[in-house]
Amino acid sequence: MEHQPPVGGDLPAPDETPIIIVDSEPSVLSFLEKALEDEGYPVEAFDSAQAALERIASASAALMISDIQMPDMGAMELIRRALEEDPNLAIIVLTGAADAESAIESLRLGVDDYLEKPITVEGLIESVTRALRRRAQADYRHKLELWLRDEVTRRTEEVQRQSQQLELVTVATLSTLVRAMEAKDPYLKGHSERVARLCAKMALHMGFEERDVDDLRTAGLLHDLGMIAIPDSITHKQSALTEDEYRRVQEHVQIGVDILKPLPHLARSVSYIAQHHERLDGSGYPEGLREIPLASQILGLAEHFASLTEVRPHRQAYAAAEALEQLTEQQDTWFEVRAIDALQQVIKNEPGLGESEWFEVTD
Ligand SMILES: [Fe+2]
Repeated sequence: MEHQPPVGGDLPAPDETPIIIVDSEPSVLSFLEKALEDEGYPVEAFDSAQAALERIASASAALMISDIQMPDMGAMELIRRALEEDPNLAIIVLTGAADAESAIESLRLGVDDYLEKPITVEGLIESVTRALRRRAQADYRHKLELWLRDEVTRRTEEVQRQSQQLELVTVATLSTLVRAMEAKDPYLKGHSERVARLCAKMALHMGFEERDVDDLRTAGLLHDLGMIAIPDSITHKQSALTEDEYRRVQEHVQIGVDILKPLPHLARSVSYIAQHHERLDGSGYPEGLREIPLASQILGLAEHFASLTEVRPHRQAYAAAEALEQLTEQQDTWFEVRAIDALQQVIKNEPGLGESEWFEVTD
């Protein structure tokens, strides 16, 4: 089955990985070789520490059994270098009665066990079994750790992919709703899409990161979602709105935010939407803020410009140049100069964006 944790941790079968034996005494080497081979372990014998180390460096070994007093290398150096080559290598040292201190020191270095000469076959096999089990468990823990790390990475990526898909689906569904809402309204047809395009162009022009440009585009698409709750009798009114009606219209900001709030992946877009009618001089709504993040200003400015250049029930559309002139008069009172400059540049580069070519008012 896919993505199952690795199995292991048991004592490996004796025929897998060789045991390295190291002793300068041929009689000890042959005693060890016979005792281990009788138990089915593959054995490789070395009479020098250097040769044993080279062997450990070149291929994997399960266990090294070494005399602590090798003529060509101090015991501690042999242990240290062997563990450097393979940190998981099991090690048993063979000591004489006079080596008790070195034996204890070797344990400190990470040796599994020490056996005092003369060695018995039973003592040897018992110690080998213990050391190999310890190594198998350490191997298993290592494999498990690698598996876990891979699994966490894989699942995190999966969740991120799903959440990106969810985000795209949600934005697509909501903008379909906005489009449907605007389609039946001769004044608003294509408005949000146009605001979204203006926002994205301005943000790109101002050097925003791709992610921020996307968030602003989404905010543009959904900025007036709350208008869904405002009756046509108000939005289509030919004469000036009463104070009460104006207050109702203002509610579209909070209504939109409330609709979108349960979608955490849209949080940044929602924060821009919450502020798209705020103005730097505090005359905006709903909070009357005087400090407005640039992204929210871009959305507010794009919406305002789009509205000015579209027909409304009580007025004709302004030409792009007129609308820009009006907005330039509002620099630093409604929007920062740099945002207005960006809008001007964007319209200059793409004059089509200054025209609302999507709708026709027939009556
Ligand atoms: Fe709005």
